[in-house]
Amino acid sequence: MNSENRPEVLIPSTEISAAVDRLAADIRRDYAGKEPLLLGILKGSFMFMADLVRRLDFPLEIDFVRLSSYGGGTESSGKINVVQGLRSDVKSKDVLVVEDIIDTGLTVAYLLEYLHKKRPASLKLCTLLDKPSRRRVPVSIDYTGITVPDKFLVGYGLDCDEVYRNLPDICVLGE
Ligand code: IMP
Ligand code: MG
Repeated sequence: MNSENRPEVLIPSTEISAAVDRLAADIRRDYAGKEPLLLGILKGSFMFMADLVRRLDFPLEIDFVRLSSYGGGTESSGKINVVQGLRSDVKSKDVLVVEDIIDTGLTVAYLLEYLHKKRPASLKLCTLLDKPSRRRVPVSIDYTGITVPDKFLVGYGLDCDEVYRNLPDICVLGE
């Protein structure tokens, strides 16, 4: 972290926590009596997933997938490669995809299409952050935490070239 690149807090941890509380309340209400599979997209969703599931007090399963896309840096290449690591049998399960941030929408659009073919009982999408200004494909989000401006964000799981995922707040990288 050099001084030109110091992360500035955009969403403090208290505000993140309040958003996760609200999401958990909605999810608890909708999934009562079911035993959903919460499917996180790695790596960005690991912290959100950990905080979310600790607020859910009913039986559920947790799994993670990793999507590989080409390219690095701050721009999505738009080409999603493959789904890695889906061990759970998705068929007939109530699947809730858990994502850190939806930007162009290409990542979740690809994953939802892939999961849909496996015939889950239901398929819904939860994201902590939504950056709607950059959407390239339409995505229907069932649970949204916080809508964010078109800035590159780091912290709380989000990275810039693999760094800053451990920050407890969501930050913007200074110019
Ligand atoms: P999408 O396919 O463009 O919607 O991108 C989704 C993925 O890109 C997210 O799961 C993140 O991993 C990454 N991403 C999008 N915006 C940001 C950001 O502002 N900071 C860090 N990662 C981001
Ligand atoms: Mg992600």
